[in-house]
Amino acid sequence: MRKNIVAFRRLNEEQLAQLRQHHDVDFFEHHEDADSPAFHAALAKAHGLITAGLKVTPQLISNAPHLETIASISVGYDNYPLATLNERNILLCNTPDVLTETTADTGFLLIMATARRAVELADWVKDGQWKSSIGPDLFGSDVHGKTLGMVGFGRIGAAIARRGSLGFGMQIRYTMASPKPELEKELGALRLPLEDLLATSDFVCVSVPLNRDTEKLIDSAALELMKPNGILINISRGKVIDEQALIEALNTGKIGAAGLDVFEQEPLPAESPLPHMPNVVALPHIGSATRETRAAMAQRAVDNMLLALAGNDPISSVNPEVLTRRVKWSPEFGPGAKL
Ligand code: DGY
Repeated sequence: MRKNIVAFRRLNEEQLAQLRQHHDVDFFEHHEDADSPAFHAALAKAHGLITAGLKVTPQLISNAPHLETIASISVGYDNYPLATLNERNILLCNTPDVLTETTADTGFLLIMATARRAVELADWVKDGQWKSSIGPDLFGSDVHGKTLGMVGFGRIGAAIARRGSLGFGMQIRYTMASPKPELEKELGALRLPLEDLLATSDFVCVSVPLNRDTEKLIDSAALELMKPNGILINISRGKVIDEQALIEALNTGKIGAAGLDVFEQEPLPAESPLPHMPNVVALPHIGSATRETRAAMAQRAVDNMLLALAGNDPISSVNPEVLTRRVKWSPEFGPGAKL
């Protein structure tokens, strides 16, 4: 049966055609479209919603009474009201795996750029300041052989640690609720409480999902524990770090530098001092932003949507348990049977 899909951003013509072969699709290409009456009218009849970068509120869900499935073009799902979706038995699909290596590349880019002061020194050259060879005041620090502390050791965290261990001979520490014996064996990684990891790592790399437990996990007390030359990297979500405390720690030299791909508020407000600080490398949330990976993420969202709307298990979902709770018509068990 053909259903109605609202697709919000990032799909190419081929992916739209795949959806249109089976369903009716309203496509909204631009961020501003989320405020348009046409978008809300389409949502009111939608069974499926494919989105990237849309803040989905309980209000938006209540304006979409037929919604069965959301396919997010992201691995993170902090933009969705999970409790509301569970209440309504709306399936939420995401895109793990396809972005792991690209996001780990971004993490390592930030490690290298902060340690070697790459952005600061490139700006210095651009400003015409390169008149003679640089002195110790502009030296960076080594990456190889240093200690890399991973706050979170999921797929992306492990991929960053693998680059550090195998490519740069770094010692890997990690903090995680449960141990990862296979990664400990593969990378010689040592599991530590957060406080010990912060105190002993040259690089602290944050790679945890944002939730109630991780919001402001890295606060002023945590920053206080870091080495004075320690470098903080964040490729997860901005709200995992207390940004005001971080600015203070960078300004007062409590820590050496920060490499940030994510911020409390995105896009970063014009008044934020972070991009202007010499010891900060600030990127515009580009973790997965390569042509290849963004296309693969969009394709995963399309595949998830087509599978889910056809009544099959998607490739990846956040709340698969809603499927077992859905009340479906079944010729064998009669209307209203829980399958
Ligand atoms: C993700 O997939 O969660 C990335 O951070 C892009 O939003």
